Amino acid sequence: STDPRLVVISNRVAVPKARGAAGAQGGLAGALHAALKSRKGLWFGWSGQESGSGRTGHIDTQTSDGVTTATIDLSQRDIDEYYNGYANSTLWPLFHYRLDLAEYERETGKGYERVNERFADLSAPLIEPEDVVWVHDYHLIPLGERLRSRGLKNRIGFFLHIPWPATRLFVSLPYHERLVRTLLYYDVVGFQTEEWLDSFLHYCENELGAQVDKGSGAVTFEGRTTLARAYPIGIDWDHFSRLGETGDARQAQQRLLSSTRRRTAMIGVDRLDYSKGLPERIDGIGRFFERNPERVRDLVFIQIAPPSREDVESYQAIRAELEQKCGQINGARSEVDMVPIRYVNRGYSHAELFGFFRAAKIGLVTPLRDGMNLVAKEYVAAQDPEDPGVLILSRFAGAAAQLPDAVLVNPHSPDDIDHAIRTALDMPLAERKSRHEKMIATVRDDNVQQWTANFLRDLS
Ligand code: G6P
Repeated sequence: STDPRLVVISNRVAVPKARGAAGAQGGLAGALHAALKSRKGLWFGWSGQESGSGRTGHIDTQTSDGVTTATIDLSQRDIDEYYNGYANSTLWPLFHYRLDLAEYERETGKGYERVNERFADLSAPLIEPEDVVWVHDYHLIPLGERLRSRGLKNRIGFFLHIPWPATRLFVSLPYHERLVRTLLYYDVVGFQTEEWLDSFLHYCENELGAQVDKGSGAVTFEGRTTLARAYPIGIDWDHFSRLGETGDARQAQQRLLSSTRRRTAMIGVDRLDYSKGLPERIDGIGRFFERNPERVRDLVFIQIAPPSREDVESYQAIRAELEQKCGQINGARSEVDMVPIRYVNRGYSHAELFGFFRAAKIGLVTPLRDGMNLVAKEYVAAQDPEDPGVLILSRFAGAAAQLPDAVLVNPHSPDDIDHAIRTALDMPLAERKSRHEKMIATVRDDNVQQWTANFLRDLS
């Protein structure tokens, strides 16, 4: 085709040897792999590995499925300051509305800028003049400006996979203006939802004094214009919906059904992250058990929670809290032959997740704040249309704007979760089918290929 080559740059790269444990990798890597598969693209990013001494600057290149990945290692100090530090102890909590967890350290801010500089140094020579460059997520906000300073004239776009916080929160970030100014060196800046987009435009207009055209999303500042728009991300429908026919999916479904026998399975699949509302979810389930003791034996809740960012203290704390809560409920409610909560610290392949989702009559996706959440869409995609399960979804996930036919809950309220579980358990087949039918149309049509096409159309 005559499409220009696509160069994707993100912190996390799904390198062929590490793929498979989809539950562990988060939405970004899976979505980008799908986006790149259909083009002969280049994907540049961090290997996830620490560089041995003397290996900084080395680029490891592999090609598989038509996608070339070029990855670099980072030093321990870079990992601490850039990844564990500024990205995941400052930006991540702040952007997820957790001011209480956000840390502001001068050193980690410098490390963040240094690693963005390194990304620019190492990726710029790989970029040809005709390439379209697409940078992803909060780790690499300043990268576009760093590439421009090296003379790149390419079309360069940026997509934020997480929320953009309200201006009143965002201004608590030291040097917030500097960070936003770098975003305005991109040609297109994309957000998951209208809500995050509105927050960004509000900041540009009211704090930065940029000229903002709300209708088109054009932000004009210091003589340059950036297009800011919402592009809700989707799943790779063609790939995912076909997984149901695989042996892995069938086996996983059988394995779950035979181990739960006549009990109704509810499932949650989340990286072990405080933004996912896991302790709050367990509180809601605890409330349900308290109010409906006669139904404890009919139900089993399966929480798959692969550990994430384990060197960051707030992640260690959330894990300890979750384990304590699961242990408490299991201690109080188990029988010798029955455990109400199965809590699993590992990831599974997409095929296995498909099977688990299909076997579970309720999917619980209750983040306190989430850019989009693709697990919600995968759960819908895996259901049997003739006898679909019910999705319980947080109103604070970006996905809620697209899936209003889920049972929407306030994840902070155990009463709301208890009520939603009862609603789901008692929902008549006709209502389950009509809700599912509407949701599946959105999940199928607003898929990842559509997302890529929409963003790249605006970028070119
Ligand atoms: C979220 C972020 C991604 C990130 C993923 C997994 O989805 O938006 O950028 O890759 O979490 O987190 P990790 O720190 O393991 O890359």
